[in-house]
Amino acid sequence: MGTSTVHLYDRNEALHSLSAIDSAYPAPRVFPVLADERNDELLGYLQAEAFTHVFTGDVESDPQHFFRDLDRGLREAPSFHLWVDIPLCRYRCHFCQFPTLVTSSRTDTADATARRWVDANIREARSWVAAVPALRTTPVGEFCLFGGTPSVLPAGEIERLVDFYRETFAIDERTSMRAEGSPDSLTEEILSTLRGAGFTALSYGIQSLDDRLLAVANRRHTGDQALQVRAAAERLGFTRVDGDLVWGLPGQTVAGFLDDVDRLIEARFSTVVAIKLHLRSFHDVESAIGHVSPAPWEDPRVREQLERRGFAWPSLGQQMQMREGAVDRLGAAGYYEHPTTYFPRRDVGPELWRSLNLDQDKQVPQVGIGLGAYSWCGDAEANAVAAPARYLSLVEQGGVPLENVTTVSPDHREVRAVQMALSTCRPLLEDVHRSRFPGSSLLSGRWGAMFDSLAERGLVRIDRRAGSVALTEAGATLVEAVMNTQLGR
Ligand SMILES: C[S@@+](CC[C@H](N)C(=O)[O-])C[C@H]1O[C@@H](n2cnc3c(N)ncnc32)[C@H](O)[C@@H]1O
Ligand code: SF4
Repeated sequence: MGTSTVHLYDRNEALHSLSAIDSAYPAPRVFPVLADERNDELLGYLQAEAFTHVFTGDVESDPQHFFRDLDRGLREAPSFHLWVDIPLCRYRCHFCQFPTLVTSSRTDTADATARRWVDANIREARSWVAAVPALRTTPVGEFCLFGGTPSVLPAGEIERLVDFYRETFAIDERTSMRAEGSPDSLTEEILSTLRGAGFTALSYGIQSLDDRLLAVANRRHTGDQALQVRAAAERLGFTRVDGDLVWGLPGQTVAGFLDDVDRLIEARFSTVVAIKLHLRSFHDVESAIGHVSPAPWEDPRVREQLERRGFAWPSLGQQMQMREGAVDRLGAAGYYEHPTTYFPRRDVGPELWRSLNLDQDKQVPQVGIGLGAYSWCGDAEANAVAAPARYLSLVEQGGVPLENVTTVSPDHREVRAVQMALSTCRPLLEDVHRSRFPGSSLLSGRWGAMFDSLAERGLVRIDRRAGSVALTEAGATLVEAVMNTQLGR
């Protein structure tokens, strides 16, 4: 669990880093909450830089159990989130911990690799459908073509893949279709192909609009190119365009990051995703993303070299100034946080896959198909193999390449539901909780005690009359730490 990251924690060092701020901006509002000794675990978690947005089960299990639980979960759910992962990229970014393969710069070799991975994905999907029959009939709420970078596939491979999914799964005009890409590979041709295949929602990585920061991260596009994709996508009929920014990059300043946020607001992105850079090795923490080889920036020697080249790592204080400055600007421009790190425009609403999986009144199953993909339902969760050769060989043998399968004990099911609901940054409602977990209450018993303690420490606000518990601003800033260290099993 995420708490295992805390062993590297040095309180004095963390407080020192938190106090190092950019004097041109207000001191972080979260400072008193983090400096409170009662919140020591939260500070330790923040310093650990772990990416642990994951809702694990608590009992080891096996694929057959998982398939049974998932089949039942799908039959009970109004819809589910189907996530297809194409693990190919044209380059490897120095911060990226996703399991990806870099395709060749020679077109014929790259095309053969693309065919191979689309074939493997289709083969794996067929095995899923054979093992979990309800996958064929349960409506797909949102179909997400994720990666890696699926936009590096040739147009014909995208069409072949999507045609297969449309024929095999319950995808119809009510299904939201979302595709992911990078600014350099979302050409007019690929955007048109995606629109032709029915995609109307687009997500892509921008990371920064500062060309110097992009180059040092080994990104192969400019900030201007990233903004041009936004305009082209709108022209071609995408109804929502969501962009990822990262804070905490080497060489990034508070002013630089906030300028990026302003420019995304000005370009009217539907969602501005503002992600904290996470570099703790996946070997130290559990994560929703399967891992194979470490990101270059995980290596302390590489980090020091960058620093010597003039790319300083922002302190914790500066990072909190980036986050709080972004929250203020986005709030003033009509954006709100839902779930954590995702800021949709209020008139557009949250990205559907996030809302389907996490909102307190939904939390429908997710099925991920592809290298290192992650699937879950209320009763269980499973990761696919993330090592490419092993993945391909298992798929070739006709199996669903799962590993790390866990089921969720009845008690932990409730903990997980509360963790997920908290991660949305929306108020938790007592009525919804009671209808899902009869006999349990958020306002009394163990939840009552836990939320009272969080309220005393400035992290939540309890409204007993309305029957709700909401994160405070500090609570929203620290929600991953709260979920992973305070809600224990
Ligand atoms: C699969 S990638 C996005 C699509 C595309 N491959 C691209 O990079 O443009 C998903 C997002 O994860 C984020 N990401 C990747 N590695 C990260 C890290 N170490 N810490 C925080 N965010 C990270 C980036 O913002 C990236 O856009
Ligand atoms: S950030 Fe995107 S483009 Fe870069 S390596 Fe990761 S998945 Fe590939």
